[in-house]
Amino acid sequence: MKIAVYPGSFDPFTLGHKDILLRSSRIFDKVIVAIGENHGKQNLFTIEERIKDISNEINDIGIKDNVLVESFSGLIVDFARSKNANILIKGVRGPVDYDYELQMAGMNSTMNPDIETIFLISRPEFSYISSSLVKQIALMKGDYSSFVSPIIEKSIKSKI
Ligand code: PNS
Repeated sequence: MKIAVYPGSFDPFTLGHKDILLRSSRIFDKVIVAIGENHGKQNLFTIEERIKDISNEINDIGIKDNVLVESFSGLIVDFARSKNANILIKGVRGPVDYDYELQMAGMNSTMNPDIETIFLISRPEFSYISSSLVKQIALMKGDYSSFVSPIIEKSIKSKI
């Protein structure tokens, strides 16, 4: 059974994340969305709120048979091992993501050589979307409805 972990901070979960998750669910037997804190970023949502929103997204896409969402702290390689997963999925929007992800994939693979990082290239229509910019637009009262689903839009509205 191919179990994959899709890690990220998902604050918030964008249409780009949603597309990567849907495509992953078609490739792997089981996908675990793993919400971790990126301590370099200011969060809008708590981990519990993100779990709830992403669960709603999973229901909405109709992939709950093989996708679930959890949070983790500590190293992603340790979380993956604890779930018997040996695949990390990373969405890559362009060269900036690639450079950073390549570094993480290399270090993760050195820490645990059994782990393979699989890069899924963002579809062009989602390649410019960034959670940080969605937050910035929302805080400045702009229209971010093209970048997130109605589920997440409602959630952001309840916060800001
Ligand atoms: O969506 P993000 O902000 O790029 O997510 C980053 C995250 C949380 C997936 C990443 O920082 C991570 O994997 N953190 C866990 C700590 C870890 O394993 N660090 C070593 C990576 S080489």
